[in-house]
Amino acid sequence: MKASAKKFGFWLAAAVTAACSFTATLVWAQSAANQDPVAEYRAMFGDDNPAELWLTRGKDLWTAPRGPKHVALANTCDLGMGVGVIAGAYAHLPRYFVDSGRVQDLESRLLTCMVVQQGFKQADLVANRFGDGDRKSDLEALAAYLVDASRGVPISLPLDHPQEKRAYALGEAIFYYRAGTHDFSCATCHSQPDKRIRLQRLPDLATPEGAREAYTTWPAYRVSQGEVRTMEWRLGDCFRQQRLPEMTYGSDAAIALTMFLAKNAEGGELAAPGLKR
Ligand code: HEC
Repeated sequence: MKASAKKFGFWLAAAVTAACSFTATLVWAQSAANQDPVAEYRAMFGDDNPAELWLTRGKDLWTAPRGPKHVALANTCDLGMGVGVIAGAYAHLPRYFVDSGRVQDLESRLLTCMVVQQGFKQADLVANRFGDGDRKSDLEALAAYLVDASRGVPISLPLDHPQEKRAYALGEAIFYYRAGTHDFSCATCHSQPDKRIRLQRLPDLATPEGAREAYTTWPAYRVSQGEVRTMEWRLGDCFRQQRLPEMTYGSDAAIALTMFLAKNAEGGELAAPGLKR
């Protein structure tokens, strides 16, 4: 009787100890995640970023003759530094393009090249702008490849052209414009230091530090979606969080907001494709 009670006492003590250390581990893991959930993903993946797969596909899409006109973007598309030049090009986007008469970001510039040079239909490209499982997006793969060619290059946007200045001013106005059912602006969530929603840090995008932290790491592989997403996807998702109508891909509003963020991030070294929640 006594012996079995002792035995029971031993197992109880062991179980309690195990449970405590399990709980302690959980609490530790949660507090580490609280500090920086994205750091956890980085630790999980080490030096690997699944965006590599998009990058490889993007390189093929850039160099192979494609579309009804059967030409390669590498031989026809100008991202602002001359036809086919990709090293550093992303660090100077958005910028004004004479041929389209518009300020363009990477996504809208790719649309122009794929429609004008390769003969694709804009509606088809836009319908397939966001990949999902087996149905991959050419725009996302191209973006991954092209931004990688600017890795380590500091962002520089002199805003020499009046249209570029106008785009920045429009982006700034949109950033502070309150609208939607909750009367939010971008600034409501993104203009204070150390603000969070649940576990996600919200960088102060009006400051150089906050803008650099965010802008230099997009496009990015989204662990939660298993896809590479570009800046236009990021902005569109924040339109949704702000309860605004859906953002039009390649629109002047999307480009202006991108210009506002990119200019605020000036001097920051590009480190994309990044890795995000
Ligand atoms: C209701 C709050 C809210 C509003 C309003 C909002 N955002 Fe966000 N934003 C978030 C959250 C939350 C995240 C992080 C999301 C995630 O990791 O999934 C985020 C992330 C971002 C990021 C990426 C940050 C990074 O470091 O990766 C950018 C850039 C951004 N938002 C821009 C904007 C812009 C521009 C607007 C206005 C059009 C806007 N946001 C409006 C909540 C908001």
